[in-house]
Amino acid sequence: MQARRDVGVLVAGATIAAVGAPDELARAHPEAEHIDCGGGVLTPGLVDSHTHAIFGRPRYDEQELRAAGVPYMEIARRGGGIHASVRDVRTRSEEELVALAEARLRRLASYGTTTVEVKSGYGLTVDDELKLLRAIAEVGRRVPMRVVPTWMGAHEIPSEYRGAPEGGASYVKMLVREMLPAITKPPALARFADVFCEPGVFTTAQAREILEASHRAGLGLKLHADELEPSGGAQLAAQLGATSADHLAAISEAGIAAIAASTTVATLLPGTMLFLGRPRQAPARALIEAGAAVALATDFNPGTSPTVNFPLILTLGVSQLHLSVAEAVIAATVNAAAALGLADRVGQIAPGFSADLALFDCEDVRELPYWYGDRRCRGTWIRGEACHPFGPPVS
Ligand code: NIG
Ligand code: FE
Repeated sequence: MQARRDVGVLVAGATIAAVGAPDELARAHPEAEHIDCGGGVLTPGLVDSHTHAIFGRPRYDEQELRAAGVPYMEIARRGGGIHASVRDVRTRSEEELVALAEARLRRLASYGTTTVEVKSGYGLTVDDELKLLRAIAEVGRRVPMRVVPTWMGAHEIPSEYRGAPEGGASYVKMLVREMLPAITKPPALARFADVFCEPGVFTTAQAREILEASHRAGLGLKLHADELEPSGGAQLAAQLGATSADHLAAISEAGIAAIAASTTVATLLPGTMLFLGRPRQAPARALIEAGAAVALATDFNPGTSPTVNFPLILTLGVSQLHLSVAEAVIAATVNAAAALGLADRVGQIAPGFSADLALFDCEDVRELPYWYGDRRCRGTWIRGEACHPFGPPVS
């Protein structure tokens, strides 16, 4: 990453046309509207490549339970966790879910994010997953951000299947035979498929079956891999050529080697481990040193990471994952765009890239992770259009 001072960015329509000395750009393009960024730090708009931003009620009740010593997976076994959000989402209308997600995504945008991936996964029936994916599409029309939809029908084995013998296997069968064709029927409602591959949820064999079918149906692949316990998820993601393997807090040595040798981006979510109160973060340094591309994301969701503050994740990237500021910024822009298959268009301030920019009230890029928890973003431009969901207009 190159941090430059006294730089001008020429935008033509939705695209960056040139980057250079402001005086020269102004002389060459006298017709261009001039916007003074007032000495702030201009970055590529942040790319949040992993969220579960479409949900109903928040689950603050579980935070105290965990603080009292009840682990995340035990809360799920008791019918809470993802199951609680599923029960709630099934009672809500599409319009209600759109309104909730729109407000939450506007908050997320106000921290400097211009591209956001949103997963379904709190419906877990054909109709409820379709409802969520349609709602994601509608939110994408209402907010200025670029919204990338992911189908995550394999987020949990729903309670109605868990009780039955072979319940997990029959849910997987239903996902592959009924739900996947329904969501990929043109116009496809998702660009990626994702699976929660974790002991007690989907096995690596089940994740393989779902992802192979998803690939045949034209979806890109993502995987919640080795989040809480190692189970070979990282190796599976690498073998399948997944676009990203996410979480990886419990990745094994073999998993690190497999990701490093692949084109799969390692998406790390330090906010999740922090919020769950778990002592172990993903081995970001080992991944980078082995040659993996590391991205950062919020994992914004009601259970394990209820934050919309991407710069806070940069703070955790530096202080918990031991990234340099440059590595953290690249992880939130260039590599995050790669984690969404958008690396040729998004995530860089360079000619030909989408004019997605974020302006921060800082003098030095190192302040971005430094003022932790603060909202320093003054505004963003998305495809060249000014966007300032809360603050005064950027001018
Ligand atoms: O990425 N681990 C699975 N999915 C989410 C949590 C979802 C929830 O608890 O509602 C995650 O951590
Ligand atoms: Fe997640």
